[in-house]
Order: sequence, then structure tokens, then C-alpha cells
Amino acid sequence: MKRGPVPDATPPKSVQRWSASDYARNGRFVQELAGAVFAMLEPRPGERILDLGCGDGTLTAEIKASGADVLGVDLSDELLAVARMKGLRVRKVDGHALDFSSEFDAVFSNAALHWMRKPALVIAGVARALKPHGRFVGELGGHGNVAAIATAMRAIGKERNGDAALVAPWFFPTVEEYRELLTEGGFIVREIALVPRPTPLKTGMEGWLRTFGRSFFDQFAEPERSDVLGEVIELLRPSLCDEKGVWTADHVRLRFRAERAD
Ligand code: BEZ
Repeated sequence: MKRGPVPDATPPKSVQRWSASDYARNGRFVQELAGAVFAMLEPRPGERILDLGCGDGTLTAEIKASGADVLGVDLSDELLAVARMKGLRVRKVDGHALDFSSEFDAVFSNAALHWMRKPALVIAGVARALKPHGRFVGELGGHGNVAAIATAMRAIGKERNGDAALVAPWFFPTVEEYRELLTEGGFIVREIALVPRPTPLKTGMEGWLRTFGRSFFDQFAEPERSDVLGEVIELLRPSLCDEKGVWTADHVRLRFRAERAD
């Protein structure tokens, strides 16, 4: 297996706090739109599969339904509790510090890797967790993901003397960047593509911002927080809201399938 330079092994501090009810209401699209990456996983009965960043276990349950033996890992106690209530086997593990050794046929990840800001550490842990020739199949936000939304938060944050660094605690790589990380981490990349996926938001822009922009908005105390939220929404309205009042998030996905080289 080709190995790159040893990455700094300190997991970054997680800045996102999750509310299971907010996520269920406003983040449902994350699982509903995962059909393409799920199809790329091709889970088979009896396979051992790790669901990295399993959240509330929606897709973990689908993997289980395929007959595979699946373990979900996530950092959020609140989301893990929901997954456990669904009868799923899950553990609290930081994706930067996966402690498995050559035991999985596949590692799957949907909409979680962009929260893990030291990707070389994550990929090294995935490579260790997989059996030789095991597959790593995933989808994360790609380069340009939520660019309009993040820019609006930065613009309003600047006017309000906020901390712009809190806008985007995410990692949205280009194809080239992620291909290199995978290759350096000992993977053969079989498929990788950036896929624009404008996503209608059933609970509007406010729901999205409240769920995924929490680290940014929480820096402001009420009543300023509500004002900032309203200003961001108004700045975005001409770009992302149609005449019928339907909001669309400017999502771009990076989808890939790779195989552990040895
Ligand atoms: C996404 O799924 O694209 C996403 C989720 C949270 C924050 C930013 C983007």
C-alpha cells in the first residue's frame, strides 16, 4: 500500500452541535437524496460494513436491510441515541481516530466526511479498517458546495463584526484534491466526480440555516441572532428562492468509489 507523509494525528475539535429533532425536520434531504451513493456501495448479505458518520442511522438501517452486518459510528450522542432506538449497532467514535483493523469489507459514508477537517487522518483510519481490497464508497460536499449560502453568512457576519471562520467548518474538496488524498492514503480510485445537486428545501432556508449554520449563528446572542438570520435569508432570497417561495440550496456533491490497494 502506498503511504504518504504521516498526518498530524490530533483530531480537530468538533464545532457542530446536533439536535436530533432539527436534523430530522430540516436535514431529511441528506438521507433522501443518497440513492446514487448507496447504489455504488452494492452491499451484499453477510458483508461487514462500517457506516462512517451514521448520524441517526437512516442509511445504516438500509445497509442492514440488505443483509450486511453493519456498524455505525458517529460523534453525536444525540443522533446515536436515535440510531440505537432503531435497533442499530452503533458506537461513538471520532472519524479522525478510527480504531479498527482489517475487519470491514466496505466503509460507507454519506454527508459526513465534510465535517472531518483532517481528511488524511480519516482516510488513513478507513484504510486500516478495511480488509485488503476492501472498498470505500462515499459522498460529501464538494468544491463550491453551498457557496452562495456561505458567502451570504460571511457578508452579514462581517457587517455584524462576527467571526467569519465560524461560517464554514467544512471541508469541500475538488476532485483532484480528494483523488490525491485517497491515492496517498493507499487507495485505487475507481470513480470520482463532482455532481451539482440543487436541493429544494422543504423547510425553507431558515430550516437549513438553523440546522447546519448553528456554529455561526450561535456566536450572536438574541435578539441579534434572529436579526442576523433574517438578514442572511433576505440576502439569499433573489438567488435561491423562486417566485412560489420555494428555496433551493446550492449543493454540490463529491461522490467516489475507491478500493484499498492491498
Ligand atoms: C451538505 O450536505 O451539503 C451540507 C451539510 C451541512 C453543511 C453544509 C453542507
